[in-house]
Amino acid sequence: MSRLFNKHIIVAISGGIAAYKSAELVRLLKTAGAQVEVVMTRGAIEFITPLTLQALSGNPVHQHLLDPAAEAGMGHIQLARWADAILVAPCTAQVMARLAQGQADDLLSTLCLATQAPVLLAPAMNQAMWNDPATQANAQLLIERGLTLLGPDVGEQACGDVGPGRMLEPGQLVIELEQIFSSHAWQGRKVVITAGPTREAIDPVRYLSNHSSGKMGYALAQAAVEAGAQVHLISGPTNLPTPIDLQCTQVQSARDMLSACQNACQDADIFIASAAVADYRPAEKAEQKIKKTGAKSGFSLELVQNPDILATIAADFPRLTCVGFAAETQQLVAHAQAKLKRKQVAMIIANDVSEPGIGFNSDENQVCLVTAEGAKQLPRLPKTQLARQLINHIAQLDK
Ligand code: C5P
Repeated sequence: MSRLFNKHIIVAISGGIAAYKSAELVRLLKTAGAQVEVVMTRGAIEFITPLTLQALSGNPVHQHLLDPAAEAGMGHIQLARWADAILVAPCTAQVMARLAQGQADDLLSTLCLATQAPVLLAPAMNQAMWNDPATQANAQLLIERGLTLLGPDVGEQACGDVGPGRMLEPGQLVIELEQIFSSHAWQGRKVVITAGPTREAIDPVRYLSNHSSGKMGYALAQAAVEAGAQVHLISGPTNLPTPIDLQCTQVQSARDMLSACQNACQDADIFIASAAVADYRPAEKAEQKIKKTGAKSGFSLELVQNPDILATIAADFPRLTCVGFAAETQQLVAHAQAKLKRKQVAMIIANDVSEPGIGFNSDENQVCLVTAEGAKQLPRLPKTQLARQLINHIAQLDK
């Protein structure tokens, strides 16, 4: 399966003759399983129609920065956050110049400025325009700022010239784009990740649990695979599809999760506890379904504490780099620091669950990384993108 499977890709098309190749690019990205949103500049629609790109991407094309209808749906900031990568193809000399200046006067330039995702440019222009010192200086500046230039290719041009300035072929652009989703930060590392809730049985049909979706842990597992790690995901019950290229053990209770972790951590390098483990379980699981008694009589359940999986693993495997999560509603950093010490781990990833739209069960999260060195706030991001940033931060601990 392609690394682009389910990735959110914005293809931004500017006004150059190579725009006709962008149709094939979008088709190839869709074939690879990516979700594609297309942005076109005014110049681009002189070369190829939005209808073509709409049919190929399966989504309406975004053309205007302040279109009230678009802003009511996926507005420009939302689109910038949605993206796992933005590929500007073709990228004209003018777009390069505007990006180098940090302009935000149309949708394409605003998205490139507003996104936290990687921005890749596929330059396409006449060879003299590419060789001009102004374009070369812009290219250099954009690379220094962390944008990636794919190409240009050298060869015959639409204007009859021969030289550098041809847009890379769509197939080559897809291969290059796949590369950004496979880093080597964790090459050869063995990683164990817990995710989702646990279920603590009351009787054969009932249990205690919580609303954890498992999204953060699954995104971390996927990002760890993409970073080259050998991943063992130990998951409580979720509705999520199992990520590709990893070992997954499904468990129910906290005690099942602990014993799966103890087995998996024998030869692991990194342990990430993102599961929302039930703190308590019923003291006894009834053999048979518990029946209602009198209409008004109450019912009480004796609970006992579950083992702390993260603290147990950190104590049992002192050479393992252990990372935990902390969901807090107040004094985020202070509580995370206390947890860091109590559980004897290298990092606590803390998030404020009182903030609407982030954390539990949502697609976005905003976290603060707490280590013995201090606290570092990360920007609000979709969990898939945040996971990739977290992998890079944890890789620093594991050196
Ligand atoms: O103590 P608290 O539940 O706030 O700690 C949260 C962190 O500890 C998370 O990383 C969670 O996965 C882990 N944890 C655990 N076992 C428990 C409770 C929490 O591994 N029983």
